[in-house]
Amino acid sequence: MENILIRSIEKKDKKWVKKVMTDAWKSEMVVASKLFNTLILPGFVAEINDQLIGVVICDIASGRLEIVSLNSTKKGKGIGTAMIEKVKEFAGKKGIKNVWLLTSNDNIDSLKFYQKRGFRITKVYPDAINRARKIKPEIPEIGNYGIPLKDALELEYKLLKKME
Ligand SMILES: CC(C)(COP(=O)(O)OP(=O)(O)OC[C@H]1O[C@@H](n2cnc3c(N)ncnc32)[C@H](O)[C@@H]1OP(=O)(O)O)[C@@H](O)C(=O)NCCC(=O)NCCS
Repeated sequence: MENILIRSIEKKDKKWVKKVMTDAWKSEMVVASKLFNTLILPGFVAEINDQLIGVVICDIASGRLEIVSLNSTKKGKGIGTAMIEKVKEFAGKKGIKNVWLLTSNDNIDSLKFYQKRGFRITKVYPDAINRARKIKPEIPEIGNYGIPLKDALELEYKLLKKME
């Protein structure tokens, strides 16, 4: 397998990050637990041979690390997994015990992805996406697999001990 490098987002990456956010979520403004500007939040990019192929955006609040967005532009090559491992390591080093995220009810692929990587479904928010659409009208009515896009699910990963 090719070597995947995961490093902090730098200024030079922002143009690419903006394109990925716009392709995935219609703009760099992403609704997670609230409306976030992904271009001002910390996170990591993934690179193979100096080519950017993934990005994860994080927000730390109330002692928890929220994954605001996780995107891989070459799916099925272990890039998403490598970024999640980096986020868990980063949280561990900061003494954060809880990594969490919200995903939408149509995002079956991400539900599979996160659950296989130790995340548990901890909350369901009926109509959360319908409410988010009021602040971000670009959110479509119909999502992946033709599923009506209405609700949000919270997933959480608990870190057991502080990493050195
Ligand atoms: C979720 C996401 C980040 C995963 O990234 P990824 O780089 O494909 O992740 P990985 O390669 O580490 O793992 C993907 C899984 O798909 C499998 N896979 C294999 N070939 C694949 C292919 N051609 N396409 C997609 N997945 C494939 C992998 O083996 C792995 O399976 P597993 O979960 O059974 O182990 C990516 O699908 C994505 O960008 N989705 C759109 C944005 C999104 O919904 N983000 C999550 C909510 S914030």
